[in-house]
Amino acid sequence: MSDHGPMEFVPPFPHRPEAGLAPWALIRSARRNLLEIWDRECFELEFFTARLLTKQIFICNSPDTVQQAFVVQNDLFQRKSPQMRNALRPLLGDGLFISDGDTWKERRKLVAPAVNASRLPTFAPVMVDATTEFCDRLAQGPLPAKIEVLSEMASLTAEIICRVIFGRSLGRDAASEIVEAFSEYQRAIGQMDVMSLFGLPDWLPRLRGGGIAGPTRRIHKALSQIIASYEKDPPRDENSIMKLLMQRSETNARLTAEQLRNEIAVLFMAGHETTANSMAWTWYLLSQSPWAEARLHAELDRVLGGRPPTLDDYPQLAYARAVFEEALRLYPPVPLLSREAVRDGTVRGHKVRKGSLVLVVPWLLHRHSKLWDQPDYFMPERFLAENTAGRSKYAYIPFSIGPRTCAGAAFGLT
Ligand code: HEM
Repeated sequence: MSDHGPMEFVPPFPHRPEAGLAPWALIRSARRNLLEIWDRECFELEFFTARLLTKQIFICNSPDTVQQAFVVQNDLFQRKSPQMRNALRPLLGDGLFISDGDTWKERRKLVAPAVNASRLPTFAPVMVDATTEFCDRLAQGPLPAKIEVLSEMASLTAEIICRVIFGRSLGRDAASEIVEAFSEYQRAIGQMDVMSLFGLPDWLPRLRGGGIAGPTRRIHKALSQIIASYEKDPPRDENSIMKLLMQRSETNARLTAEQLRNEIAVLFMAGHETTANSMAWTWYLLSQSPWAEARLHAELDRVLGGRPPTLDDYPQLAYARAVFEEALRLYPPVPLLSREAVRDGTVRGHKVRKGSLVLVVPWLLHRHSKLWDQPDYFMPERFLAENTAGRSKYAYIPFSIGPRTCAGAAFGLT
């Protein structure tokens, strides 16, 4: 016991079936919540396969099989699954997130340096300013009885991503127009196109595939307007992502207006919702764990003494980082990573035929009984340097791992 009550909290998680589900029950369950299909044994196995209708699925559920699939054989398994590509192509076109082969290679070279750790000195003051303004807004007037934390975090992260991409404040209206259009899009595609995941032919009508034309147009229009106004009147001394992307890529091929819009859409989609979700979960976890909240505040008081943080403070804020990393472990914003084999291959001696799906499931890995002590408990301390010895880097992959790892991981974490 601490002064702040028991240092124990098991945050809620979806029901886990006792045994594997029959195919139709599985589909029903997956339509409701993709995290509900995994029975108890899935949190103990290292590698398993499933055959659903015509599709063979391989689940890599241990550090060595994750390394095999995402690092050693990245060439074989770099293609995103058909349902992911189908769902996102109308919005992202040939954008980095869903491209593969040469297009992916070229775009990665262009986009990754624009958002990676080297850009933090530019991004950090933007994050601090936007957050300070957000807090000031909250502090004005009486605090509302209820705050919809997820949507507040979504507008905060949208505003941050808008400012780092375009180099200036888009203003709340433009940011919220983009956020709303993105949520509408997401509702329209559903959480996952379950039908193609389970191997039904691509030409069958999708369960929830309709209705994306409207939200897609809305997002494209908003982004194109911003890009056009930027091109007409480019801010001079801003070190923005747009500016970098508009400069020539290594091959000297400039991005067309459409390609630029695609990459901007990728950065919005990849960068704002993930971060908003993980911050909302962080607040929830802290709200239920007064001992963790107290330790966090003690660290903030000691390191910052009431002033806003700077990038130089980051290494000193070890507990803050541990809390966030633990939130990403318990509730990974991308809980399932799915890939399609582009050729025949093998994993753990199993033949993986071209077209099969290979899944790496952070939801399972992060709560695996062989990899974590008390996996379902909220215990930020496990991420403090003194407690991480011996943990494989392939056991904890909220940002994925290997060549296709999240390009904005340092940004997201900061
Ligand atoms: C907590 C925050 C974040 C999390 C948990 C996260 C997680 C991920 C994951 C798991 C992937 C791989 C997805 C897959 O393989 O299907 C990914 C890809 C990506 N992320 Fe993030 N991300 C975060 C924030 C960001 C930010 C802030 C940016 C940039 C502004 C960003 C940019 C990207 C890009 C460009 C890709 C595609 C990389 C590629 O395919 O080569 N992410 N992210």
